[in-house]
Amino acid sequence: MKTCGGDVMAYNVLLFSDPGIDDSFAIMYALLNPDINLVGIVSGYGNTPKEQSIKNTAYLIDLAGREDIPIIAGAAGPLSGEPVQFYPEIHGPEGLGPIKPPESLQKVEVHDINKILEIINEYKDNIIIVNVGRLTELALMFILYGNNALKNVNAFYIMGGAFLVPGNISAEAEANFYSDSIASNIVMEKAHNIYLYPLNITNKAIITPDVIDFLSTNSPTPFRPLLKPAFEYYFKAYQKNVPGIKGAPLHDVVPLMALTNPEFVKYIPKRVRVEEFGNAKGKSIADFRPKPDPEPPETLEYIGMEADIQKFVINFMEVFLKGDYEKN
Ligand code: BDR
Ligand code: CA
Repeated sequence: MKTCGGDVMAYNVLLFSDPGIDDSFAIMYALLNPDINLVGIVSGYGNTPKEQSIKNTAYLIDLAGREDIPIIAGAAGPLSGEPVQFYPEIHGPEGLGPIKPPESLQKVEVHDINKILEIINEYKDNIIIVNVGRLTELALMFILYGNNALKNVNAFYIMGGAFLVPGNISAEAEANFYSDSIASNIVMEKAHNIYLYPLNITNKAIITPDVIDFLSTNSPTPFRPLLKPAFEYYFKAYQKNVPGIKGAPLHDVVPLMALTNPEFVKYIPKRVRVEEFGNAKGKSIADFRPKPDPEPPETLEYIGMEADIQKFVINFMEVFLKGDYEKN
């Protein structure tokens, strides 16, 4: 799964995202982490409209001087065709808190969805998909190209779901699964080797303002000026929704960190299904009874149920302090 780019062994990662503030932290983390070779970023609707999500991705790539990374336009809405709800109160009117990407970025080249297959074929059997946005684009790959479309992907690292704990967008559901519950169920059924990062652990992946203050002064990366304003906007929203919270959860950094630090998360293998309609729309379901019904091994997902949060904070700081942003 790891490839040799120069002297550095790194995972080839195709990232699906909807930036969004925690997505933006995830993109920055991926760009800075020497163990990750970003081979493309799919940007679709979710926290913001698709066009805005593309602009935000282009801005981060430009800041890092990594215009070589292809940007792929994702979907504009869910498979159900329902209208999309965006979240400016959490992520800002344009998805980066108070920050506006410069107008000059309008001319960036953006690929269509076929580019995803091209990239997968280029890195055949040596590529990981990390999905931190809605699941629409991944489900579309199966719909457009058939059940074997993604067979050359080694593994899928997905932020989504909430098991036996409250949701964050409804009583039962986590936002990525809820916003396209049909797509989420398709992906759980059709993709193989899924590692899932639900709210059970991502809600605990909290970064506090003192950490951001420190990085805002000391991070040698081109992202330094963004860190504090983007984080503060997001943290304020969390303070309103979760009174007493000490920091803000950076959900979308978790799967990337788990990929490059395998000991960071502990998994339970279970078959996962997603409720498609009704009051429990988007709810992730797995059998947690002491004696669950037997399921064939190939249907099991690895659900991350415990994470070492101290390690999360330390690794996050390490990457933003020593990030090798000129890696290529
Ligand atoms: C997930 O939903 C999105 O709004 C966040 O970016 C994250 O991917 C958390 O439920
Ligand atoms: Ca996201």
